[in-house]
Amino acid sequence: METEMICLGLFHLRRQDMEKDWWKGKVAYQIYPKSFKDSNGDGVGDLKGITKKLDYLQNLGIDILWLSPIYKSPFIDQGYDISDYYAIDPIFGTMEDMEELIAEGKKRGISIIMDLVVNHCSSHHEWFQKALSDPDGPYADYFYFIESDKEPNNWESYFGGSVWEPVPGTNKYYLHSYHKDQPDLNWQNPVLREEIYKMINWWLDKGIAGFRIDAIINIKKDLEWRSLPSDRENGLVPVLESLVNAQSIEPFLQELNERTFAKYNAFTVGEVFNETDEELHFFIGKDGVFSSIFDFKQTCLGQEGKGWFDHTLPTAEELKESIFQAHERADRIGVLSTIIENHDEPRGVSHYIAEGPVNDTSKKALGTIQVLRKGIPFIYQGQEIGMENQVFESVEDFDDIATINGYHVAKEAGLSEEEALAAIANYSRDNARTPMQWSAEPGLGFSDGPAWLISPKPDYSINVEDQEKDPDSILNYYRQLTALYRHPLYGNTIRFGDMIPAYRDRENIIAFERRGDKRILVISNFQNRQATLELPAPIKTLVLNNTAGLFQEGDQVLELVPYQSIVLELVE
Ligand code: NOJ
Repeated sequence: METEMICLGLFHLRRQDMEKDWWKGKVAYQIYPKSFKDSNGDGVGDLKGITKKLDYLQNLGIDILWLSPIYKSPFIDQGYDISDYYAIDPIFGTMEDMEELIAEGKKRGISIIMDLVVNHCSSHHEWFQKALSDPDGPYADYFYFIESDKEPNNWESYFGGSVWEPVPGTNKYYLHSYHKDQPDLNWQNPVLREEIYKMINWWLDKGIAGFRIDAIINIKKDLEWRSLPSDRENGLVPVLESLVNAQSIEPFLQELNERTFAKYNAFTVGEVFNETDEELHFFIGKDGVFSSIFDFKQTCLGQEGKGWFDHTLPTAEELKESIFQAHERADRIGVLSTIIENHDEPRGVSHYIAEGPVNDTSKKALGTIQVLRKGIPFIYQGQEIGMENQVFESVEDFDDIATINGYHVAKEAGLSEEEALAAIANYSRDNARTPMQWSAEPGLGFSDGPAWLISPKPDYSINVEDQEKDPDSILNYYRQLTALYRHPLYGNTIRFGDMIPAYRDRENIIAFERRGDKRILVISNFQNRQATLELPAPIKTLVLNNTAGLFQEGDQVLELVPYQSIVLELVE
């Protein structure tokens, strides 16, 4: 039976009592809080700004809102370095603002999930400060302090350089898989684990609906700290490769789930890379420790090289195959969460529209594929208006530590200034971190103050205000896509139906059927050429079309214009 409780001054369902898997068939949206909406004119987005935009999000058809970190932080890695898990950073507002956001979200049927960053914390966290001041004391054991007269091995951090940093005044080194100000937390230590569970439950008690779980795969370690063979001049090997020799992650995650998420019926989505087929069962599905994991396969396309400077952009065929293969592998087991971009990726429309042109039609086509493929679509702020990669003119225009590292890697590989800049401009995480473009005003309707991280040349023509007025805008198209999740005839099939590839051997056609109580065919002509397609049966209903109506009911042969996307119900 559903029970009610008073929380934050509101009556609402206790999540524990809500239907299990309440999150299935939902549409999610990611907010990068520093860049979403500034309410107080200091140039940085904040919680009150997000609350102001809840109606906009409701109108976009959003059910779940993921906030990138808003905890207290020195922002070395933009909040992924937490110095107090129980405090809201003052740049975002107060705990009351957070409670208001949760409550206002609930009124609109929007569940808030937070970012759970527990592979590491900030070097400013009191645990680390206490560990430094007493390197043999109990807090040192919250981290990996290893005795050694030199770096214990040749692992390279995700942000470049060794993963080891000396503990001042000792013969020890501490481990940091990311920046040196992000020391790794020691999950071997049960006392640390208890602290983490307590913190998670504290937030769930506040009424958040769950978490996106950051970098979780890194909590397992090769406790022998073995060096790995390197073919690089600096002798280093990416720390990711050390995970092959690591202990099993399963006991940690099982305990984590039992002690926290499971008790609250929380929605959890893991940032999980490189999982094997066998491991999938453990992460998602009936026995999974998480509700879902992100499908990152497409983001890895073209990245076999030595760094951003020698990566290649994915073709339509590669994109298609990566999507189909991800579903063939995962759909029997559990639910994938899908993206075309996030705060760690360039803008999807600048990355995946291989042949171009990047225009409203091709942007809508990419959105159609993501939102209507099976899984939980995570729309990233600005994606719904077709925001593109930004213009950056010099390395000084960038903020992100991974980008600055990418620049140095390119320069060390012998690239000229211009080439190094071009490489980081294509892949920089800052492309997606610039302010949300609400209007064409100088501050983009984002802030009345000096907006942080604004590009020297923003494309003012891409903005919410203008798109609200245009029935054919990308924004209104995204609304039509998400409306299909609630559609009286097709909603059930879109939310829960199977996904079956169609026209797979037709080059640059990305098409699939969604099959449930209806049969829906989604076709995208993902190229800058016309294509003729014969349908297996005549069109019964043209459900959606990203260009002006070129078909009608009864048609069975389609002439698709470049990047045309259509959603069809066929005559049975
Ligand atoms: C993944 C996050 O998405 C990224 O932004 C961050 O830099 C790393 N994890 C470290 O927390």
